Amino acid sequence: MSQSLLIDHIGELTTNDAETGGRLTDAAVVVADGVIAWVGPAGSAPAADERVDAAGGAVLPGWVDSHTHLVFAGDRTAEFEARMAGEAYAAGGINVTVAATRAASDAELAANLAGLVAEARRGGTTTLETKTGYGLTVADEVRSAQIAGEQVDAVTFLGAHLVPADADPDAYLDLVTGQMLEEVAPHVSAVDVFCEEGAFDRAASERVLAAARARGLATRMHGNQLGHGPGVELAVAHGSLSVDHVGFLSDADVAALAGSWSGWDRAAASGARGTVATVLPACDLSTRVPLAPARRLLDAGVEVAIASNCNPGTSYTSSMAFCVATAVLQMRLTVPEAVRAATLGGAIALGMHEDGWLDPRGVAQPRVGVIAPGARADLQLLDAPAATHLAYRPGMPLTSAVWRAGERVA
Ligand code: NIG
Repeated sequence: MSQSLLIDHIGELTTNDAETGGRLTDAAVVVADGVIAWVGPAGSAPAADERVDAAGGAVLPGWVDSHTHLVFAGDRTAEFEARMAGEAYAAGGINVTVAATRAASDAELAANLAGLVAEARRGGTTTLETKTGYGLTVADEVRSAQIAGEQVDAVTFLGAHLVPADADPDAYLDLVTGQMLEEVAPHVSAVDVFCEEGAFDRAASERVLAAARARGLATRMHGNQLGHGPGVELAVAHGSLSVDHVGFLSDADVAALAGSWSGWDRAAASGARGTVATVLPACDLSTRVPLAPARRLLDAGVEVAIASNCNPGTSYTSSMAFCVATAVLQMRLTVPEAVRAATLGGAIALGMHEDGWLDPRGVAQPRVGVIAPGARADLQLLDAPAATHLAYRPGMPLTSAVWRAGERVA
């Protein structure tokens, strides 16, 4: 039996749990065996082996970053500088990272990933998804998935990121939906496709989604990032867990997403789930596209997630606090809405809001994204009295302590 831990004198506790009302003041939390054991008023907290005095700081769930691309090598500073000087983002830049990633050793890729994971942990992120997609050969996609699986909570196969510069488009689509999918499948829990002009069109994207489903894998989608396209429509039609970017939406797209949530109890986060709309504010800023219409999506009844999209091309930051601040200041979410989207919203996008999801080692895990008895003990303490300070004091490093599965990780 591991040591139990009491965190008390919490100024404001965000639980995302309907049973405790979502937000508590003067609260305490007890953690034991890697999960939350008790939540309630500080005055009635049970004793524990160890105690942390939160000194009036806010506590909230660790961030659940549901969209990243962390297995890569190389640098794209020059491309970023050109963009800031007025050039538009073009998906072709992905090939630069593909060349550098293929040339890197396993140890180099693992070390770069470890550095990024550590950076994310210091910023309060306790659950990380990452994608393959910078290998784009069978061997490079398999090793990317294996390296990722050693360090993150969920690995997504993104062989359909781009047709590599050295490949024939039809032959590559056959490979991605055939041998590559077969060999990567044992190492991933979902399949993604970049459905965009210049990447994969409607027919190709449908083939990728259908092949993934036939292989028993969940799907997600990069959709409507650089212009309007069929991404959202396809993601909803195929029951994808999430469609990410969602910058350019028609009324029909919003209605389709909202319709997918008709059997869902949002307060209890239970029922028949739909397709999460994942917004990526740091990417929108870095590529200078309009910010995704998160307010409109929430008002329509869509479950929204906020993720960092950390990658070397379009969003080289793992700061979920920055994304939350941007969502509040620029996308017009309230602080509770943004915090939910960056924690429970991400968990729903990954299918981790219920107990028993399997990590990359095949081990069943407790739910994440909430602070409630039985959930994985993933928490962050802020050096501020309320979560509102994340947007009120944007850019300040407010996260002062982070626990993942009950262990202090930052
Ligand atoms: O989510 N859109 C496709 N994939 C990444 C960008 C990858 C890159 O440019 O390296 C994204 O923005």
